[in-house]
Amino acid sequence: MRKSNNPMILAIETSCDETAAAVTRGTEILSSVKFTQQVHAQWGGVVPALAKRDHEVRIEGIVEAALRQAQCGSADIAAVAVTAGPGLAIALEVGIAHAKAWAEKLNKPLIAVNHIEGHILSALIKTSPPPPLLNSGEGRNFVKFPALGLVISGGHTQLILVEEIGKYKILVESLDDNIGEALDKGARMLGLPYPGGPLLEKAAAVGDPKKYKLPLPMAGKEGKAFSYSGLKTAFLRLTKEVGVTDENKSDLAACYQEMVFRHLIRTVRMNVQSTMYNVQDLLVGGGVIANKTLRIKLDELGKELGLTIHYPENMMLCTDNAAMIGVAAGYKYQRGEFTPIDQVDRRPRWRVGGDDLKVDR
Ligand code: KG4
Ligand code: ZN
Repeated sequence: MRKSNNPMILAIETSCDETAAAVTRGTEILSSVKFTQQVHAQWGGVVPALAKRDHEVRIEGIVEAALRQAQCGSADIAAVAVTAGPGLAIALEVGIAHAKAWAEKLNKPLIAVNHIEGHILSALIKTSPPPPLLNSGEGRNFVKFPALGLVISGGHTQLILVEEIGKYKILVESLDDNIGEALDKGARMLGLPYPGGPLLEKAAAVGDPKKYKLPLPMAGKEGKAFSYSGLKTAFLRLTKEVGVTDENKSDLAACYQEMVFRHLIRTVRMNVQSTMYNVQDLLVGGGVIANKTLRIKLDELGKELGLTIHYPENMMLCTDNAAMIGVAAGYKYQRGEFTPIDQVDRRPRWRVGGDDLKVDR
């Protein structure tokens, strides 16, 4: 049995359309296996019932593959971690049921992890050896807290104050569409298949971002929230006006992507400047940070503000994965934050650092 202060975690993630399992130790990945569901492409977005069914079909094989690839015996596992939210309720359920079964089988504690915390900490994950020990405070060696976290994906657009690992406060979030969703919908208007973010990036790379005029969101209320639905509607109007052709597609893509990112960068800048903390580090996570144009813009912002930007080391760690859930759980393990098995439940609207969002119906 390994030392408990450097615990080996079996982590499971099924909050959306990725079925994933990983074995982690501290910020080191021992194995990480994931399957990105293909069934949603024809529907132009994630269909919860299809996601649930696909998770059910694959989850067991993926967990077993993660354990096999980590080359560890089940006795080495100190705890089982699972994403409890936020996410699609019926998709979360699948991972939770399997995590409970594994925790019972291995007779180990269960750790419920917030998916957003996973994305924030994904920038701390080390994919190359030697792995630092979890309790050496390695994150703190190069990230000064309080720091900021920026989670940008299909389901989230949040700027978060990270007082320390495990202590979060959402500063800014989206009033309507999320950034990845906005990119995917814009891509769709150009005839690109779902998820269109990466394809929009490719088209934009050879386009002129100044060719067409589009409005910058939140005019007059900059910095207070993200908002993408107005820009999306303006883009739809523009595509109808000019018509989408092979000749103008890349210019349209470039103009739209430019405004999506300009709004993001401006909002981050204003909040860094206005925070009462002397924030020097920004941890970025989520699928959209795979975008190279955005990384260049964020690097420029970092230089301008004296801010160190921390990115996930590879694409696999940007999009949904279980390794980030295992790493977040490693810190929770150290703080003794376990949840009794019968109390772990899906929390589709779990806000990082707080309670579940209640919606009046
Ligand atoms: O984090 P993620 O895998 O899932 C969610 O939690 O949503 O993020 C998926 C999102 C999609 O909207 C996808 O289009 C976007 O990330 N994405 C990108 C790129 N790669 C993935 N957006 C822009 N450029 C990319 N290269
Ligand atoms: Zn995600």
